[in-house]
Amino acid sequence: MAFNFITAQEAAEMIHNGATIGLSGFTAPGTPKAITEALAEKAVREHEAGKPFKVNMFTGASTSDHVDGVLSRANAYNMRAPYQNVPDLRKRINSHDCHYNDRHLSEMAQEMRYGTYGEVDFAIIEAADISDSGEIVLGCGVGNVPTYAAMAKKIFIELNAKLPKALLGMHDVYMPLDPPYRREIPIYAANDRVGSPVLKVDPAKIVGIVRTDSYDCVKPFTAPDEVSTLIGKNVVRFLVGEYKAGRLPKEFLPLQSGVGNVANAVLYDLGESKELPNFMMYTEVIQDAVLELLKKGKCTFASTCSMTFSDETEAKLFSDISFFHDKILMRPAEISNNPEVIRRIGVIAMNTALEADIFGAVNSTHVLGTKMMNGIGGSGDFTRNAYLSIFSCPSITKGGAISNIVPMVAHADHSEHSVDIIVTDQGIADLRGKDPVQRAKEIINNCAHPMYREVLTDYLNRGAGQTPHSLRASFALHEAFTETGDMRNADLGRYF
Ligand code: COA
Repeated sequence: MAFNFITAQEAAEMIHNGATIGLSGFTAPGTPKAITEALAEKAVREHEAGKPFKVNMFTGASTSDHVDGVLSRANAYNMRAPYQNVPDLRKRINSHDCHYNDRHLSEMAQEMRYGTYGEVDFAIIEAADISDSGEIVLGCGVGNVPTYAAMAKKIFIELNAKLPKALLGMHDVYMPLDPPYRREIPIYAANDRVGSPVLKVDPAKIVGIVRTDSYDCVKPFTAPDEVSTLIGKNVVRFLVGEYKAGRLPKEFLPLQSGVGNVANAVLYDLGESKELPNFMMYTEVIQDAVLELLKKGKCTFASTCSMTFSDETEAKLFSDISFFHDKILMRPAEISNNPEVIRRIGVIAMNTALEADIFGAVNSTHVLGTKMMNGIGGSGDFTRNAYLSIFSCPSITKGGAISNIVPMVAHADHSEHSVDIIVTDQGIADLRGKDPVQRAKEIINNCAHPMYREVLTDYLNRGAGQTPHSLRASFALHEAFTETGDMRNADLGRYF
């Protein structure tokens, strides 16, 4: 079938106010880059002409400035799901300009198929290659594109010349049937392949192909600072201890790691560890550190939803793609983050918290309980189902004005029933097999910054019940920050 090559502007002209759009990709990689820019320009023109123009945008996870940045600045979102991390969009969400539905990433595709969000008007898919019969070699991230492509009435392709055709074979496109017909997902080890190397779409739905030529625009990582380095070393110390104690199998278990500098620092340290065996990853993103670990052979295989490499590392991958070809497999988010698979293969999950409370609940999403930061992402998918669930964060933020260990989290994303280990720059709290008071002592003594240990212990000692909270005083530290700009001014006496 001969496809119609068009410009990004021509594609944007076809997208109407109120349209529901699904994008390929997961984080910046695999995410379209051109049509969304043109769509933002169109939104600005429409607004200047006094006309309404907003769309509903569904993705795999976060995107990039080419999507969430430009479209937020153009105030062009009515609805956005399931995850974001762009400051301009954060502002729109917190000022109610955009309805944001923060969802577990593993659930987005099936909820779309179940009909929660209505019909999909357009799918925009980044491709490395496409055949006449509509077989697409995807880019460096998959996300929820199998579902968006299947449901979309019309499809645009962004054919990115920067992507090597040799990406063929690095994807595992699999869509489970929906209940009551769903069967087990037959992944029994991180490197099991279950799906197709290409995404098959109905070629008749492809209304235009736009040519692009760009890396994925992921910023390089900054060298880990002192606190991230300490956190990384503590995570590795904990894993080595578990391995030596025989609580982890001798073959070790697949790792999941969140995004950001701490996660990158943990992986570098894991790579240096002589005491841990080689390992596989079953995760949603792999970052720069993983490419090095694959090269060294310390990581033997990475199952992921996206290769979130900085442009420099992406270029290294593309120039040596035959080496990495059988060591990385990119899957849809509902497979990379699938609770059934995570539980079966025993993933060790490592995620980052904004704050944790003394009893083990974790807030990943809401600054001071009200302002959306990014979203829950895949942290819930992994935390609840992991063999071991580790959360890390610095013990303090903003020079000590904020303690990241608090009496009660101001928003709970992960309860104490799912969180096994908390790690800060101060140390490791092992919450397994402990009652609430034992957990609190472990967290206060090992993870809280020394400057906050007294007030947290005082809080613990004043409370009552199995989980000795005081409902009046539970947000004393947050209130002190809101009122005075520093949690160290908290006065518990005021509440008792
Ligand atoms: N209260 C208020 N503000 C806080 C805070 C707290 N307890 N802890 C951190 N902050 C502020 C920091 O000061 C920083 O502010 P700044 O942007 O003004 O400098 C900001 O929040 C981000 O903190 P940082 O330590 O840089 O966070 P991070 O980059 O390590 O990300 C999360 C931490 C929790 C925001 C991030 O991991 C996330 O979004 N997690 C949820 C998604 C997820 O886990 N996905 C699964 C794996 S991909």
